[in-house]
Amino acid sequence: MTLLKIAAMGHPVLWARATPVPLPLSAATQDLIDAMIATMRDAPGVGLAAPQVYQSLRLIVIQPDREADAPMVLVNPELTPIGTTRVYGVEGCLSIPDWQGIVPRWETVRYDAVDRDGEPLAGEASGFHARVLQHEVDHLDGILYPMRLEDPRDLAFAREARHLAARLHAYAEDHGEDDAA
Ligand code: NI
Repeated sequence: MTLLKIAAMGHPVLWARATPVPLPLSAATQDLIDAMIATMRDAPGVGLAAPQVYQSLRLIVIQPDREADAPMVLVNPELTPIGTTRVYGVEGCLSIPDWQGIVPRWETVRYDAVDRDGEPLAGEASGFHARVLQHEVDHLDGILYPMRLEDPRDLAFAREARHLAARLHAYAEDHGEDDAA
């Protein structure tokens, strides 16, 4: 099992707009996907984008529920908000260790991508699944979650992150998500 080094905030690869993955997928890209899944699970995290492993490609793997879900591979994903509801939740990022922040996201999104076999992959996601998708697709556009904060005080060291709960309440939402992605 190959585990990949994860880029930390500050490395320029995380600020770049990633390029589409050429189709059909090469053997090298298939190997990258396997290594990304292994790296995400080992971290552990609920999602990983290729730029986080220094590959500026539009490719993400997610596993919103590590117990229940199989890993999902999305190549060249596009997201479209469904409705206008935004929800606030606490996020972490494997590229920003030891920090957490309150981030507003669309509650429901449609995703359009291809899977690792090159087949169309589309559907709707809500709640935490939608949050993970938005967090990971942001990585493909060079966006890290601190850029989405509404208030700098919504960012906390993990050891103080319990204090985010009161701030989250103030946003009148009830999401308490805190997995790293
Ligand atoms: Ni992240």
